[in-house]
Amino acid sequence: MTSKETFRAPKGTRDILPPQSLRQRALTDLFAEMAGRYGFGEVVSPMFEDLGVFQRIGEGTDVVKKEMFELVSRSGDTQLALRPELTASVCRAFAQHRPLTPWKVFYQGPQFRYERPQAGRYRQFTQVGAEALGSDDPLLDVEIIALASRFFQALGLTQVRLLLNSLGDPEGRPAYLVALTEYFEANAESLSIQSQTTLQTNPLRVLDSKRPEDAAVIDGAPLITDFLSDSAAGHFASVCAGLDQLGIDYEIAPRLVRGLDYYLRTTFEFAADALDAAQNAVGGGGRYDGLVEQLGGPATPGIGFALGVDRILMACDAEGVFPGPPAAADVFLVDLTDGTQSLALIDELARGGVRVDRAYDNRSVKAQFKAADRSEAPLAVIIGEDEVAAGTAQIKDLVTGDQRSVTRSELLVEIRKLCS
Ligand code: HAM
Repeated sequence: MTSKETFRAPKGTRDILPPQSLRQRALTDLFAEMAGRYGFGEVVSPMFEDLGVFQRIGEGTDVVKKEMFELVSRSGDTQLALRPELTASVCRAFAQHRPLTPWKVFYQGPQFRYERPQAGRYRQFTQVGAEALGSDDPLLDVEIIALASRFFQALGLTQVRLLLNSLGDPEGRPAYLVALTEYFEANAESLSIQSQTTLQTNPLRVLDSKRPEDAAVIDGAPLITDFLSDSAAGHFASVCAGLDQLGIDYEIAPRLVRGLDYYLRTTFEFAADALDAAQNAVGGGGRYDGLVEQLGGPATPGIGFALGVDRILMACDAEGVFPGPPAAADVFLVDLTDGTQSLALIDELARGGVRVDRAYDNRSVKAQFKAADRSEAPLAVIIGEDEVAAGTAQIKDLVTGDQRSVTRSELLVEIRKLCS
């Protein structure tokens, strides 16, 4: 007896099969369409970069310290990593190509993080996102946030909250870090062991702890909004005013910090209330005005966001919205000849823009109609010897059962009319 090895998708990854894959595609297409309307062009960058590119995200962050998929090239002389996010790649591309500013780009695609898998947290996941480089105009912040908010609205989601904060600028941030560190050190014995360790490397990240034992200390921590420089406070006020003007709701969240270290000034997150708190962050972003420079480019302000497609689809399920395209095929062919008619008909209809499917292996009429039902196609085209002789075909509405004959030369036009 031979034993066959069985393989499964690696831990933390998933196969996305039809029709879910069609729904995901519809979502990313909608995002691309909307980003285009707001003046963003698509950037496609490599799935892996020099490790150093991603180390600029922040040496102290989990993403860099614990979650990077590192690769060594065969020659052994280049250290690479699968991208855990795209902001650093976009800034690397900007520094490399020096496009005209403002440079407004969007992206979609898989990211890789070696995280402990759980619902809504994967080792390969898909993001859509947008970045705008070369301007620190607060109205650009508003436009970026509006694009993400309007996208959630276009999907039909109504339970997504926008949390907004400013993380200050290099002028005001040091004073805040001193105050925060002093406060946490004075209350260190009440913090969890993990947060006591985080405090040594990055006091800001203690604010992000979700551990219940840290909650009381975090509640009393100084607020960044009380430490903003005049210019950061003015910038933040303009962002808020712009969102008010567009009627986009937000909550000021003065304790919002993000998992990546490059943020300054505007930062935001989208929380989907229909999901459990552990995976309700469906997107986030902010300003990263120093990142291009750190990657060897000229000092260039930047702002952007990324949204988690897997989680957004979970939120759509929870809210019962965005079901995705109804069926894979518009038309199912039922061929009552020896099957040869289908070949030319599929070719004609598919080239004419109709989504068409059929059965194979000369199945019985009954089996072909069963397959038509299973396909959920709304229409069947039936062709038998009589139709071949008369130069016609039957169109059957599979919902109402109505059937009528059309000439072969009218078939494509008729089907297109019915599908539009
Ligand atoms: P991020 O908050 O790390 O930000 O990720 C953005 C979104 O990606 C999250 O809100 C979440 O929906 C999704 N996500 C992250 N990790 C996972 C995972 N393991 N499984 C499933 N979904 C996940 C960034 O990536 C920044 N680059 C955003 C940005 C763009 N900031 C400025 N520009």
